[in-house]
Amino acid sequence: PVQEKINTEIVTLTRYLNEEQTKHKEATGDFTLLCHALQFSFKSIAYYIRRASLINLGGLAGSSNVTGDDQKKLDVLGNDLFIAAMKSSGRVRVLVSEEEEEAIVFDEHPNARYAVVCDPIDGSSNLDAGVSVGTIFGVYKLEEGAKGSKEDLLKPGTEMVAAGFTMYGASAQLVLTMRGGPVNGFTMDNALGEFILTHANMQMPKKRGIYSCNEGNSKYWDEPVLEWVNSIKQAEKPYSARYIGSMVADAYRTLLYGGIFAYPADKKSPKGKLRILYECAPMAMVFEQAGGLAVNSKMQRMLEVVPESIHDRSGIFLGSQDEVQKVIDIHKKYG
Ligand code: AHG
Ligand code: MN
Ligand code: MN
Ligand code: MN
Repeated sequence: PVQEKINTEIVTLTRYLNEEQTKHKEATGDFTLLCHALQFSFKSIAYYIRRASLINLGGLAGSSNVTGDDQKKLDVLGNDLFIAAMKSSGRVRVLVSEEEEEAIVFDEHPNARYAVVCDPIDGSSNLDAGVSVGTIFGVYKLEEGAKGSKEDLLKPGTEMVAAGFTMYGASAQLVLTMRGGPVNGFTMDNALGEFILTHANMQMPKKRGIYSCNEGNSKYWDEPVLEWVNSIKQAEKPYSARYIGSMVADAYRTLLYGGIFAYPADKKSPKGKLRILYECAPMAMVFEQAGGLAVNSKMQRMLEVVPESIHDRSGIFLGSQDEVQKVIDIHKKYG
């Protein structure tokens, strides 16, 4: 028979979440419901991004957020969509977003047992050029008796129960991992309206000659960072430079192809630019669980860094084991 072999055993995100839930006898279904709400927020954010140029959603909102970024209209809409989804899930007690100065506490759900951190739209400076952006998220389980406040989130990334990000590119991609588990990649099938498991158990290459950083900042960089970049440019086979300027897109490529993404702390931004809770920690969890490494500018394990405040920042080096190790080795020489 001349018939194309069509896969009928498709694993949708919904199916995956159900199967995960049945693996855990003690599970109440709360986490699964929370993930369904996350899924809806990704779908709706992706939808508005795709239509932005058609419905006057381009450009600035005219406001700025607490970390000093000018907000795009889509930053504001993405934030509203994300908050609405988390609130309506009834499973989230506390929410921290890049676009909200204070942690949001959902008093209407006093018994909700989860806290969520999010960067609703990462890479928003790229929005008007149609370049890939995405959403970064992390999920924490509240301790028994926790009162539900931002203090519940000033914890190291090792405490997260799940983390991941989406990238709204040629197709919408979702990378999701649960603590101690594999990293799985899903691709949005627009016709089905479902995220389909397309990259099961992602494992990143141990090394690869690709580096990704904003070298326009090199004037502000410290000696070890300068030495490192110089060394890979002068390597026998010099590295390729790839920098999109959306962490989600640079990280997604690094996860698939290998290499390193860096946004070091420097003289201009002594604490670094990227934010620990909703940018650095979730990415670090994904990379470590895919076999990579993530450290801050002091060469400490990123996942063990405790943020001092909800919008606290850090330098970050994220990528293939051997590539991050090179950075660590050079920094060690400087003591
Ligand atoms: P956001 O759009 O959420 O504010 O994040 C921007 C971040 C990140 O996406 C990217 O890696 C980095 O800023 C780019 O910074 P530069 O423009 O300084 O290179
Ligand atoms: Mn921003
Ligand atoms: Mn961001
Ligand atoms: Mn953002």
